[in-house]
Amino acid sequence: MGLFDGKKGLILGVANDHSIAWAIAQEIMSQGGVCGFTHLPDRPDDARKRNHRRVSLLTDKCESAKFLVPLDVTNDENIAAVMSRAAEEFGKIDFLLHSIAYASLDDLKRDTIETSRDGFKLAMEISAYSLLAVANAARGILSDRSAILTMTYYGGERPVPGYNVMGICKAALDSCMKYLAYDLGPSGVRVNALSAGPVRTLAGRAAGVDDMLALYERMAPLGRNITHEEVGRTGAFLLSDMSDGVTGDILHVDAGFNIMGSPGRLLDEAPPQ
Ligand SMILES: NC(=O)c1ccc[n+]([C@@H]2O[C@H](COP(=O)([O-])OP(=O)(O)OC[C@H]3O[C@@H](n4cnc5c(N)ncnc54)[C@H](O)[C@@H]3O)[C@@H](O)[C@H]2O)c1
Repeated sequence: MGLFDGKKGLILGVANDHSIAWAIAQEIMSQGGVCGFTHLPDRPDDARKRNHRRVSLLTDKCESAKFLVPLDVTNDENIAAVMSRAAEEFGKIDFLLHSIAYASLDDLKRDTIETSRDGFKLAMEISAYSLLAVANAARGILSDRSAILTMTYYGGERPVPGYNVMGICKAALDSCMKYLAYDLGPSGVRVNALSAGPVRTLAGRAAGVDDMLALYERMAPLGRNITHEEVGRTGAFLLSDMSDGVTGDILHVDAGFNIMGSPGRLLDEAPPQ
C-alpha cells in the first residue's frame, strides 16, 4: 500500500535529475502516484531540444510518468494547454507541485537596491505570480481533497545577502500561497509551501547555494545540510492526505537553520575577540 495509490497529479519544474521537483516526484511515484510532467520549452533554434531531452531522459524510464509537455509560465496558453492535457489524461488531479523560479543572473548578482525594473517584473512574474496563474487554471480539474505545494526559501522571511531580488519574490510567493489557501479552502483544496535549505540544483547555483552550504553545516541545529531525498519525502507528505489538516503553512526542511537567533556553534570556530 502506497501513500499515493490511485492518486494523479502534475509536477511543474523538473529541469534535470538534481531538480527538487524530481526528488518529490520520485517519492510520489514510489508510493504509487502517477504524474504528468512539464519542461521549459526549447528555443526554436535549439535543434537538439535540450530542455525536453534532459527531462525525457528521466520520465521515459518511469511507467508512472504519463506525459511530458512544454510549459512557460509567462504564457497563459501554455498553462491552459497543460491543464487540458492533464484533464484528458487524468480527469481530476489530486496534487500539483509548483517548483519554479527565475531571476536574471545580472539582477541576482547586484545589490537588491540596484535591481532593474524589467528584471524585477520578470522574476516576480515567473517566481510568484505563476503560482496564482497555475492554480487558477487548474481550478476545474482539482479534486475535492487535492493539495498544491510550492517551493520557497528562508530569504523571503529574512534578508539573506546574495539571495537579493529572489528573496523579495519568495516573500510574494509565500503570500500568494496563503491567499490561495484561503480562496481554495471552501473547495477542499489545500495550499502549502516547503522552505528548503540549500541543495545543489541549477536554480540553486544561480542563487548562491554553494556559499550557503558551508554556513548551514555550521549553524543549523542538526549540524549538516539536508538531502534531496529529505525534501522529496516532506514534499510528498504535504501533497498527500497525511497532511490533510494543514493549509496555508510554510514547513521548513532546513536542518533547523531557521530557528536560530545567533550563529550558534559557528561562534566556537571564531570566538569574538
Ligand atoms: N536549490 C535550493 O537550494 C532551493 C532552496 C529553496 C527553494 N528552492 C526553490 O525550489 C524551486 C525549484 O528549484 P530547484 O532548486 O529545483 O532548481 P531547478 O533549476 O532544477 O528548477 C527550477 C525550475 O524552474 C523552471 N522554470 C524557470 N523559468 C520558467 C518558466 N518561465 N516557465 C516554466 N518553468 C520555468 C526551470 O525550467 C526549472 O525546471 C524553486 O522555486 C527554487 O527557488 C530551491
